[in-house]
Amino acid sequence: MRTTLPLTVDRAAGLALHLQLAEQVRAAVRDGRLQAGHRLPSTRDLARELGVSRAVAQAAYDQLHAEGWIVGRTGSGTYIADVVPLTPPVRQRRSRTADSSSNSPTAAASTSSSWPGRTSKGLLTLRPGIPFIGTQADAGWRRAWREVSAQTPPQGYDDPAGLPELRSALAEHVGRVRGIACGPENLVITNGTVHGFRLLLSTTLRPGDRLAVEDPGYPNAVKAAEAHHLKVVDVPVDADGLCVDTLGGLEEPDGIAAVYVTPSHQYPLGGRLPVARRNELVRWARRTGATLIEDDYDSEFRYDVAPLPALAQLDLDRVVHLGTLSKMISPSLRLGWLVASAPVVDRIACHREEASDWPGWPMQAALLAMLRDGYLDQVVRRNRRLYAERRNHTCAQLAPYGRVVGQDAGLHITLLLPDHVDDKALAAKARAAGVAIAPLADYRRTVTGSPGLVIGYATPTDEDLHKALRILVDLLERESKSTMA
Ligand SMILES: Cc1ncc(COP(=O)(O)O)c(C=O)c1O
Repeated sequence: MRTTLPLTVDRAAGLALHLQLAEQVRAAVRDGRLQAGHRLPSTRDLARELGVSRAVAQAAYDQLHAEGWIVGRTGSGTYIADVVPLTPPVRQRRSRTADSSSNSPTAAASTSSSWPGRTSKGLLTLRPGIPFIGTQADAGWRRAWREVSAQTPPQGYDDPAGLPELRSALAEHVGRVRGIACGPENLVITNGTVHGFRLLLSTTLRPGDRLAVEDPGYPNAVKAAEAHHLKVVDVPVDADGLCVDTLGGLEEPDGIAAVYVTPSHQYPLGGRLPVARRNELVRWARRTGATLIEDDYDSEFRYDVAPLPALAQLDLDRVVHLGTLSKMISPSLRLGWLVASAPVVDRIACHREEASDWPGWPMQAALLAMLRDGYLDQVVRRNRRLYAERRNHTCAQLAPYGRVVGQDAGLHITLLLPDHVDDKALAAKARAAGVAIAPLADYRRTVTGSPGLVIGYATPTDEDLHKALRILVDLLERESKSTMA
């Protein structure tokens, strides 16, 4: 059935026209006005009806398609996808002192981390996870530190959750950029994602609890979970990210206490969790009481459509959101944030007060200056352009040798290789030829799948990237000739 859409555009509103249209379609699906299988008008007809350009209509459809609200493409028509709407959460807000007694904190043991710099010295690095950092300090960076240096430090100890002004500024930032409606009472300033993850494990999970992780997935999340003596349960991943439907089968006998998930750009395969799966995941968590831990590590960098809204946007009582500066500016800042319900924030703040473990004032003050100045947004915009070019080059070079996945976002792509290839051996050969690269095998646990290479294109200079890719292409060429011989 063809639908006449209840859409309007407001040219005076501060929001781009295609984003206005996309949001109106989402709202119509959420409240049942548009249902699965409804056919949408062509972009040409929609543009004509609304008096907008066809490019605007197309951009709205691209965004909705990327998020999983609509299916089908050119030729066969576009339809509303099978998305079961989620009922709004019943929010419980409590103050810091209200509930800090449940779940006594336990200390998390430390583990060694796989620091890419440590393994890549003297090599051209195509390892994922490190952004490009130029050799010159730019004006925005210098402005932030000048502002910090002109202030005297606060008197006494800071709030263990983080500077209140910074938490307010970050609440505004994650609201605007990630769509999470929250206030300073929902924010904790961390030393990055892994630190936030460990704080959460220490304060909300108990040793022996079961934590579901993506397989393949982020090895440091598994290390942190093991250090906390959790039972790690592997969940398969497909082209759309976490296979949410398999969680049901894992509930017995002990239940799953939490799920660690990378919905905006599955690490390392790059799928984006469509809205139907997001809703299903939140419904499952509401039913079982599990906590969803959203690692949002490189969501800022999308090359096809606007960044997808965060999972935490759906229900902050079930989802804990972890953000980081590591991919936007540098991992060496050791700064990030955790967004959660107020009781979770309170528990973490109490735990930190005892452990005296929170980022120092100058770092927090500098981040505040960068946010107020618009520097963070500026760096993301600038680097998005840079990474998009590098991604295009990397994909063009490597596509003949396998299947490139995850290229729509982030700082890396994954090249899936034919089944007979030993990816660890290939990475070792690359290393011997001067290129540090990660084999997909390093991210796999018990779920089997294709071999591959996880290739970060952000870190090197353009020149080094080109050099490293030439070496890699040479290697892949020889590999494919040797298997044909
Ligand atoms: C999946 C994933 N999450 C998070 C991070 C960043 O962690 P942090 O903020 O602790 O530097 C990385 C870094 O490589 C990552 O790959």
